[in-house]
Amino acid sequence: MDQSGYIRVRNSQINYYKAVSLYYQTSAESYCLYKPAGGNLAEARIGQNKHPELYIQEQDRLFAIKEIQNGFNRQIADSIKTGNVFKVKATLCDLVEETLAEPRSGTLQALPETVDSLIAGYSEHPEILKTFASISFKDYTTVIHSVNVMALTLGYCFYSNFNIQKTKKIGLGALLHDVGKTQIPSSILKAPRRLSEDEFNIMKTHPAIGHKIIREKNKIGGAVALGALEHHEKLDGSGYPRGTRNISYVGQLLGIIDCYEALTNEDRPYRRARQPLETLKFLKEDVEIGKFNRDIFEKFCYSLI
Ligand SMILES: [Fe+2]
Ligand SMILES: [Fe+2]
Repeated sequence: MDQSGYIRVRNSQINYYKAVSLYYQTSAESYCLYKPAGGNLAEARIGQNKHPELYIQEQDRLFAIKEIQNGFNRQIADSIKTGNVFKVKATLCDLVEETLAEPRSGTLQALPETVDSLIAGYSEHPEILKTFASISFKDYTTVIHSVNVMALTLGYCFYSNFNIQKTKKIGLGALLHDVGKTQIPSSILKAPRRLSEDEFNIMKTHPAIGHKIIREKNKIGGAVALGALEHHEKLDGSGYPRGTRNISYVGQLLGIIDCYEALTNEDRPYRRARQPLETLKFLKEDVEIGKFNRDIFEKFCYSLI
């Protein structure tokens, strides 16, 4: 945002704004109403074929995010119906990115609906989630990582025949497991080298921050919040943030899938992506030395087939 109190909106999203007013810039510091609240964007066109660059007022920001989330959710549901996997994933990544921009303001509330659509869509188009995690985009970000972890986790839940309610909770926990990273400086998140001890200590705060954001700011509790808190814990007590050996089922499951996803992608510029089979062999070593739950790991391997 600039000093004016107006925020530029992305062209690809302008059709989602129904109840929010849109503005266009007339000079360096002045803005005019383009589409009134509740008005129709198609009728707002002022002579030219294309809409100009459009803005919302800063005070409408949270409301605008909710309108975008609704629009994305409708788009995801439509793309699932037509079986367009790439579109589903791209829209989902946009939705999660938009949502994570304000995770402390209660905006995570829109995500359960998204996970519902994906679960409902899976029964009709199982191939969608199966191929989901293998669709890659150019830049590997926390958003893409989270969406991939969710797709792999839903695959595990379907393989395990969990009921819808349990699947929904665990899937949402997977999507939000790294929400605490939104509060970590990007200089640390995107560092093109190994982190220093101090930097790593800051990075290690993301599970507790995520837990707090989910529970306190968004009033989502239970398994979802525990998944964020415990996904870096290990059964031999060598994990963080608490170093506990007493880890919830969701925490143990997300711990394995989180590692698998990060290792099969280039999550750090200095680290090459590994092949799935090579990654599973690598993770099996951690099972042998008591860091990961053997039963969950084996089920996860089968769920990938
Ligand atoms: Fe994490
Ligand atoms: Fe993660």
